[in-house]
Amino acid sequence: MAQEKIAVIVLAAGMGTRMKSALPKVMHPVAGRPMVLHLLDTVSGLAPEKVVVVVGPGMEMVEKAVAPHQCVQQTDRLGTAHAVAQARAALDGFGGTILILYGDTPLITIETLRSMLEVRRSAADPAVVVLGFEPAGGGDYGRLVLGPDGLERIVEVKDATPEERAIPLCNSGVMAVDGKRLFALIDKVDNKNAKSEYYLTDIVGLARAEGRACGHVAGDEEEMLGVNSRSELAVAEAIVQRRLREAAMAGGATLVDPDSVYFAYDTKLGRDVFIEPNVVFSPGVSIGDNVEIRAFCHFAGVSVADNVIIGPFARLRPGAEIGEGVHIGNFVEVKQAKVEAGAKINHLSYVGDAHVGAGANVGAGTITCNYDGYNKHLTEIGAGAFIGSNTSLVAPVKIGDGAITGAGSVITKSVSANALAVARGSQMELPGWGERFRARQEEAKAAKLKSKE
Ligand code: UD1
Ligand code: MG
Repeated sequence: MAQEKIAVIVLAAGMGTRMKSALPKVMHPVAGRPMVLHLLDTVSGLAPEKVVVVVGPGMEMVEKAVAPHQCVQQTDRLGTAHAVAQARAALDGFGGTILILYGDTPLITIETLRSMLEVRRSAADPAVVVLGFEPAGGGDYGRLVLGPDGLERIVEVKDATPEERAIPLCNSGVMAVDGKRLFALIDKVDNKNAKSEYYLTDIVGLARAEGRACGHVAGDEEEMLGVNSRSELAVAEAIVQRRLREAAMAGGATLVDPDSVYFAYDTKLGRDVFIEPNVVFSPGVSIGDNVEIRAFCHFAGVSVADNVIIGPFARLRPGAEIGEGVHIGNFVEVKQAKVEAGAKINHLSYVGDAHVGAGANVGAGTITCNYDGYNKHLTEIGAGAFIGSNTSLVAPVKIGDGAITGAGSVITKSVSANALAVARGSQMELPGWGERFRARQEEAKAAKLKSKE
């Protein structure tokens, strides 16, 4: 059968009052990305003709985030059918299947959507296919009423009889609808119900009344999780983290303690990456092959080449580019800096706005003084240079290839290749001074005691 065209409507008009937030609910991040973008990423796998996001007033932030997809506004929130109706003009003339999803239900998988589309394309040609599930705790979900010919109607819990409430199969809210009928069915929906809302769920009964079949697919409860509160957001995060950890291990990474490693939605790991406990990846991180990440490291916006050792307790911030075979040790922070192959920054350093040449050795306690309170300046460290412990490199400054700086130096001027630069108070020595000092002090103390007698 020819693949039918697909369009998607995402309902996201709710502000999410229970989140108690200035941020629209669907903008709250899960694994470092707004939840609505998780959903859009999933549906992109179905190559939809069009995606229309229904937003509320004042949600420019959502419009910006979902661009270039089209947004339509629902000014008054009169119910889910009313929300879908706002997409009518945007989908004018679309005759394929319209998938309706909720922006606050981001965990749905493409496999589940595909199984719904399969039922939609079945011989019975169902006008509406609903994604159902059986929540362990029941809950305030609409109930799917099944008859001898499949799905007959959906009853909202507030309108349900006790027998209907006892039905275990619930409505996730996700639907695949015949695009040729959707808006005509929506037109027939009224608001004569317990909530005086236009219920999208009513289109099932209305389609059946027109003699059309309706179907359902049962999915996994976990995928249907709707985020309405911060604690549900935390549950969604935990589920996504579990999926990301499993994908990392399936891709050839060792996680010594998977539950203590936090990934972003886009973390890329090579093969044979070894990750010790308590490591956090923010967005924009790619790690090469055979990299060892020791405990308690934090990454954000960083690329790491192959055969690198990092940590424990290292922080790699945006713009850090770590070359092949580099060692970054404990309590080292690297930001906006390219560290070339084989360089070592092993202890207690800040390297920001810098270029570290191949094979350079940056000693313990080295600081690039990159910021003067107004601007950031560049520090260049040449290939094979040796930066002595506790060196302050006051940028802009350039250390030539193979140059050496003396420990404790404050380097304010560029250093030529292969030179030694020492910039600190020079050491002096006074022979016997200690002995003379102690004799003086003891004499003075004895005189003081005598005067008190
Ligand atoms: C809805 C379903 C219910 C289902 C449940 C699953 C209806 C009538 N009921 O109920 O069967 O079990 O979801 O979670 O559809 N929205 C708008 N504009 C509106 C109303 C809602 O955009 O006018 C959006 C909300 O932001 C949300 C989604 O639609 O993303 C669902 O709305 P909500 O009010 O949570 O519906 P429920 O009462 O939970
Ligand atoms: Mg809801």
